[in-house]
Amino acid sequence: MADNKKVWLITGSSTGFGRSLTEAVLKHGHRVVATARKPEQLSDLVDQYPETAKAVRLDVTNTQQVHDAVKSSVDAFGHIDVLVNNAGYGTIGALEEVSEEAIQRQFATNVFGALNMIKAVLPGLRQQRSGHILNISSVGGFVSFAGTGIYCSTKFALEGLSEALSKEVAPLGIKVTIIEPGAFRTDFNGRSLATPEHLIDDYASTSGEFLKWIRETDGTQPGDPDKAAQAMIQAVESHNPPLRLALGADALHLISEKLSSVKAEMEAWKQVSINTAFEGLEVGAIGG
Ligand SMILES: NC(=O)c1ccc[n+]([C@@H]2O[C@H](COP(=O)([O-])OP(=O)(O)OC[C@H]3O[C@@H](n4cnc5c(N)ncnc54)[C@H](OP(=O)(O)O)[C@@H]3O)[C@@H](O)[C@H]2O)c1
Repeated sequence: MADNKKVWLITGSSTGFGRSLTEAVLKHGHRVVATARKPEQLSDLVDQYPETAKAVRLDVTNTQQVHDAVKSSVDAFGHIDVLVNNAGYGTIGALEEVSEEAIQRQFATNVFGALNMIKAVLPGLRQQRSGHILNISSVGGFVSFAGTGIYCSTKFALEGLSEALSKEVAPLGIKVTIIEPGAFRTDFNGRSLATPEHLIDDYASTSGEFLKWIRETDGTQPGDPDKAAQAMIQAVESHNPPLRLALGADALHLISEKLSSVKAEMEAWKQVSINTAFEGLEVGAIGG
């Protein structure tokens, strides 16, 4: 196997981005540990690529399965080069409408699942002084909308930990990239969508409208997951991969709009911000 052929470990390979990426990475000749809650959904890929594809059962909320998946990857291919934290779904509804249990489940998958995967692969990546972690966030990891407070807070959390992690592991030869897709045609708006059991009329014109939009656009989203997969591979193959990679003109537009509005607001309130230190102190950046 040539040196540029990497070992990828991908979560949520059954459908959507995970499936597209698994197929694309295999086509590129890399080795892949594709994981799914129902690994039998991946048997066609293992049949097609018996030497380079391995299917492993993985529910990212199951800590034992997380460790077993990492061990299976190392047993099968010797090491891991790229971890893709893709498994995730969206809970859409106003903050007040989403049950405590649904919130816990959302964080268990989108945040703690990814975090456990990261912690499980890091010892190996540190030892080999190389590796790349791709965390599939969302445009909703940078911008929040009515009806997405729970989902976006999981993706904001993922972005916060990714940003810190990138700085901790850069000196160790490990890269981190946050992927921020806009609307892509996967199962996200359909079978994977989680919604509140009880809707509150007062949120019909805010959160309710967003939920309506999500449902109505299922199957007609502009983003092509196969093209997203190519973009992710390009980022991994780049000598200078980005910390953040927005996917889709919609994502790019919304993120740019937020950057401008945050900048304008910070400028407008600049003096109020500055005038909060003890008299005579010059304040620099936190953490030196
Ligand atoms: N599509 C979009 O517009 C969009 C935009 C921004 C971000 N994203 C993000 O993209 C990622 C992938 O979603 P997708 O769009 O490709 O939707 P998808 O087709 O519904 O795929 C979601 C994947 O996550 C898996 N999954 C969910 N919970 C899991 C768990 N506890 N353990 C293991 N796997 C689990 C699903 O497995 P099962 O088949 O077993 O359910 C499935 O493989 C998610 O993190 C999502 O937040 C999507």
